Amino acid sequence: MERNTADTPMLSNRYKLLQTLGAGGMAVVYRAQDMMLERPVAIKLLRQDYSGNHGFRNQFRLEAKAAANLSHPNIVTVHDFGFDAGRLFIVMEFVPGKDLKTLIKERGRFPVAEAVNLIAQACAGIGYAHRAGIVHCDVKPHNMIVTPDKRLKVTDFGIARALTSINPDEHSNEVWGSPQYFSPEQAAGLAPSPASDVYSLGVVLYEMLTGQLPFTATDAQELARQHREVRPVPPRRLNREIAPELEQILLKVLSKEPAQRYRSADQLGRLLAPFAGTPEMLQPIPPEAPRPQQPAYQAPAPAQPPAARPGSYQPPPQPQQPIEEPAAPAAEAAAEPLLPPLLSPDIIILTIIAVVLWVGMLPFGAYVLLRLGIIGAP
Ligand SMILES: Nc1ncnc2c1ncn2[C@@H]1O[C@H](COP(=O)(O)OP(=O)(O)OP(=O)(O)O)[C@@H](O)[C@H]1O
Ligand SMILES: [Mg+2]
Repeated sequence: MERNTADTPMLSNRYKLLQTLGAGGMAVVYRAQDMMLERPVAIKLLRQDYSGNHGFRNQFRLEAKAAANLSHPNIVTVHDFGFDAGRLFIVMEFVPGKDLKTLIKERGRFPVAEAVNLIAQACAGIGYAHRAGIVHCDVKPHNMIVTPDKRLKVTDFGIARALTSINPDEHSNEVWGSPQYFSPEQAAGLAPSPASDVYSLGVVLYEMLTGQLPFTATDAQELARQHREVRPVPPRRLNREIAPELEQILLKVLSKEPAQRYRSADQLGRLLAPFAGTPEMLQPIPPEAPRPQQPAYQAPAPAQPPAARPGSYQPPPQPQQPIEEPAAPAAEAAAEPLLPPLLSPDIIILTIIAVVLWVGMLPFGAYVLLRLGIIGAP
């Protein structure tokens, strides 16, 4: 890291660190300015001890590369990855807003439709990654940023997987962050699958709907045991506003066996869509925006997974726009007659002009015909 003339830290002589946005177990996140492209970015600067680990560095680079190929409105875009002054860093799209954990702490329980709406957006982003063959491995509300207009973006794809490259005795419990959200198979030390992300999404939704986590313990081992063995309190017992059908979905998502859950976040998102909030909860369409041709709530993931070959063209994913009902065309059509009426003022005026011209031309025509001898004098 260098210091520029204004004594502001610079990374790779390109990124000017401006302000600390937050810190997790292994990194500090800064708001920064990309001096080359002149745009705001967020930079996750890893702690020195992780940056120094060779295995982790390689794995982190691979994960960053995979994450950088993900392009979806519900995923924080990764722009760049670097190493400077002994520190690894990852450059991302800067997302204004708050992380979902902070919102849960501030607000407690969410209204059902709003909670489902946000988690359906998370499902869209994570489902897209699943189709691209990427498992998040660390789905938790800290890794979801909600913008002021209630768009949700998931961040930190693959970083948890990179951490597995570190020797177990080289990382502390703190690094693993929040075992509250880990799936039973992760808690048992097994490899995560898309169904593991689905479970973690279920834990986040449970927390938003009930105001409490399904499992709590001060000891990580005890938490892991609960995830593997204990059935959660049915969420309707904690919040009667949860529909029985939604409760059934949530309990299935929280199954201990991955095979008992929904296979991917896409599938979960589709099932949640009917319970998701109305368009008013999302960003209003600016007046100049063209009218979208979509139904009210865009549930998960119309986007295509990225092509396997890096650099090949990918169609841009459909943004999830809040939709206004199209204006009723029938009423407008009724006000406007299909054909002009026969006695419209225009037609009357034109007819009068034609008659005057015709009458005026009669004596002149008779004179010409007389001179040419075509007709005789009376
Ligand atoms: N792209 C971004 N744009 C804006 N703010 C961000 C961005 N990425 C992260 N942040 C902010 O930085 C904070 C810290 O993120 P970080 O990922 O380091 O911590 P964490 O998710 O709480 O823990 P963990 O180390 O387990 O990931 C987040 O809570 C969020 O508020
Ligand atoms: Mg994070």
